[in-house]
Amino acid sequence: MKLIVLTWFGLVGFLLGVEPPLADLGKQIFLDTALSNPPGQGCISCHSPKAAFADPRRVSPGAMKGRMGRRNAPSLMYAALIPPQRLEDTYDENGELEYIVEGGLFLDGRAHDLLDQVRHPFFDKNEMNIADEEELAGKLRKRDYGKEFEGLGDKEVNEKAFEALVAFLREPLFRPFNARIDEYWAGNKEALSLSERRGLDVFQTSGGCATCHLTGVASWPKPLLTDSGFDNLGAPAIGKIDPGLGGITGKTGELGQFKVPSLRNVALTAPYLHNGSIQTLKEVMEFYNKRDLEPERWGVTNYPGTVNHEDMGNLELTDQEVDDLVALMDAFTDRTLVGIPEGRIFPEVPPGVPTTEERKAFFIPKRRHDLTAPRRPGAE
Ligand code: HEC
Ligand code: HEC
Repeated sequence: MKLIVLTWFGLVGFLLGVEPPLADLGKQIFLDTALSNPPGQGCISCHSPKAAFADPRRVSPGAMKGRMGRRNAPSLMYAALIPPQRLEDTYDENGELEYIVEGGLFLDGRAHDLLDQVRHPFFDKNEMNIADEEELAGKLRKRDYGKEFEGLGDKEVNEKAFEALVAFLREPLFRPFNARIDEYWAGNKEALSLSERRGLDVFQTSGGCATCHLTGVASWPKPLLTDSGFDNLGAPAIGKIDPGLGGITGKTGELGQFKVPSLRNVALTAPYLHNGSIQTLKEVMEFYNKRDLEPERWGVTNYPGTVNHEDMGNLELTDQEVDDLVALMDAFTDRTLVGIPEGRIFPEVPPGVPTTEERKAFFIPKRRHDLTAPRRPGAE
């Protein structure tokens, strides 16, 4: 019976373009700018649909005048597909087994999963600046959608709101997989220009990009263009010093490391890197290619000791190859995100994208790890 209702709802929902009830509540909360303190800011203020739900500003101002975040707000496209934080075993250069962090939300991976993440913006002093659970619940109850919270205590009101946001961010509109690269991988070789095809070749061979921005499948049945690992690219220092993953784990070797982002829709999400220090994709490619040969161009970085010199910094790519890589980035842009129809806030959903219900096996909560515990064989 439940299945029939869901399927029926899925069909009607598909025809009408509406979300299932919980996701629809999440959408309303996502758009609501009256919850912050002072009012005026909501998720939508820093995650702009036109910029693939990233922030085109280097860092985002908070609801409270004068407050500023320290990181460039990332895209929320595919964010619900980022695997939960986990420890992965690998071998270091001496052949010793070590455990490295993968997955988790935020650029330093500090939130275990999306449900853990969505609560933070409400209470962050540099974001929506709500004092406590009580204030948030009180505000949620007073909104048009407040009837959804009838009979619930403060904590339950907020939990329902967080779950609703997660349900919304899992919706097909955030995971259409309808970029030209997807058509190319589905067999239409004409979907990419000659330059983009050369770029893809560099990406997967001499550029070494695909070692971190995976073109194969890992945690999801389609490539996410990330391995969800962490690394220090030696981003030019700007703004506040930011310890990244090392600030969470307390491990000096992880200072300055940030999550490998998905490159899907990257052409829409300038500026780049965790601190928004690089303006254009062309410069990002030049940085990868010649970082170590042009120290005066890129200036100082905050954690030189952990910078990755093995995989980048002197790639010896030609100018043509650099241009081909830049061209390739455009092939990662979802068609639904370019030219969102007039009068619509959110991109449309292309036909055939599986519903969240159909993909629920991928959204099962995973076990938590203590990232600050000693990482030795047998400890995990
Ligand atoms: C003031 C601007 C601002 C507001 C408001 C805001 N965000 Fe963000 N968001 C950011 C920034 C900046 C980051 C990166 C922060 C970090 O890594 O520490 C981020 C990160 C995220 C991430 C993690 C993405 C990833 O790749 O790990 C998610 C998911 C997210 N925000 C969802 C939301 C939701 C849902 C709301 C509303 C409840 C919201 N944000 C409100 C600026 C904002
Ligand atoms: C060793 C892993 C690794 C390799 C190899 C790698 N990247 Fe990255 N990439 C990262 C990490 C980590 C970041 C985020 C760094 C930060 O925020 O400071 C990143 C960021 C980016 C960004 C900016 C994304 C954004 O939203 O800010 C682009 C574009 C990019 N990489 C493209 C490439 C290309 C093209 C190559 C090959 C030339 C490549 N990457 C090779 C790990 C890697």
